[in-house]
Amino acid sequence: MPAIYASAPGKIILFGEHAVVYGRPAVAVPVTQVKARAVITPNPLSSAGVVQIDAPDVELRTSLDQLRDDHPLKIAIQGVFSTLNISKPPSLTIRITSTIPLASGLGSGAAVSVAIVRALSAFLGKPLPDELVSDLAYQVEKAYHGTPSGIDNTVITYAKPIFFVRGQSIQFIEVKKPFTILIGDTGVKSRTAEVVGAVRHRWQAEPAPYEQLFDEIGAVARESQKAVQSGEPGEVGPLMNRNHALLQKLGVSSPELDRLVSAALEAGADGSKLSGAGWGGNMIAIAGSEKALEVEKAIIAAGASGTIVTTVG
Ligand code: MEV
Repeated sequence: MPAIYASAPGKIILFGEHAVVYGRPAVAVPVTQVKARAVITPNPLSSAGVVQIDAPDVELRTSLDQLRDDHPLKIAIQGVFSTLNISKPPSLTIRITSTIPLASGLGSGAAVSVAIVRALSAFLGKPLPDELVSDLAYQVEKAYHGTPSGIDNTVITYAKPIFFVRGQSIQFIEVKKPFTILIGDTGVKSRTAEVVGAVRHRWQAEPAPYEQLFDEIGAVARESQKAVQSGEPGEVGPLMNRNHALLQKLGVSSPELDRLVSAALEAGADGSKLSGAGWGGNMIAIAGSEKALEVEKAIIAAGASGTIVTTVG
C-alpha cells in the first residue's frame, strides 16, 4: 500500500457566528492559504492493528490505544474504522501537520478531522463521500464544543462559500466577482467551547434579549447572501460593521479585536468584524484591491500577531 495524504483548508465566518448555534443562518468561506494535512503510511513490519500517531505541531507521538477515548484524534480515527466496519486495521502511521493557527477561529480542529477522515478512508481503499466526512468531523466537534452548529466541519469539507442553517441542506454561494478579505490575528488564544458556553449561560438567564440579538444577526446573515454573491466590498462591508456591533452587544468581542477592527476601518476598509467565537482569535476586513495593502499594514501596526490575505470566489 502506498502512502496516502489528504489536506483540508481553514475557514472564516463572514456572517452569523453564535446565532448559527441557535438556528439562525450564517455565511462561511474556506481559507486555502492555511491547511491541515494527514499522511498515512503502512507499517508492514508491525503486527496488524497497531496505529501510530505522529503530530509534531502539538508534540504528540503515541499509539492510538494510548490515547484517551475522548481525544479528538481518537474519535476521528475510530469513527472511520467503525463507519467502514474495520475491527483490525492494517498497521499504519498517521502523521498530522497543520499551518492553521490553533484556538484562533480558523477551524483548525475541524480541518484536522477532515484531513484524517479523508486520508484514512482512502488508505483503507474506501474513500468516504463528503457527507460522511463532514458528519464524522461533526462528531469530533460535538465532543469538544458541546453544542457546535456544524458550520465549521461543513465549510471545511466542501471547501466552498456556504450559506448554512443548522439541520438544513447546505446552500453554496456562487460569488460573481472574487473579493479580498484580510484576516488579522489578535494573538490571543480563545477556546470556542468557552465562549459558546458563556453565551449559552447568558441566554439561559435572560432569553428574550439574546433571542432578539440572534434574530438581528440572522437577518444580517440573510441579507449578506446577495452581497457576498455580488462580491462588491461596498455591499458586503456595511453588513460586516452591523454584524460586529451586534457581536459586541452579545459580549464576545474584546479590546484587542475592537482595536484591529477600528484600525482596518480607519485605513479605508469597507467593513470589518470579529470572526469565529470571539474573545480573541481573528478579525476580518473587506477592502477593494487598491486599499488591501494599506488595510493590512494598519492591522499589523495596531498589534496583529499575523495576517492572511485571502480571495473569496
Ligand atoms: C465557531 O467557528 C462559530 C460559532 O458560531 C460556534 C459554532 O457555530 O459551532 C461561534
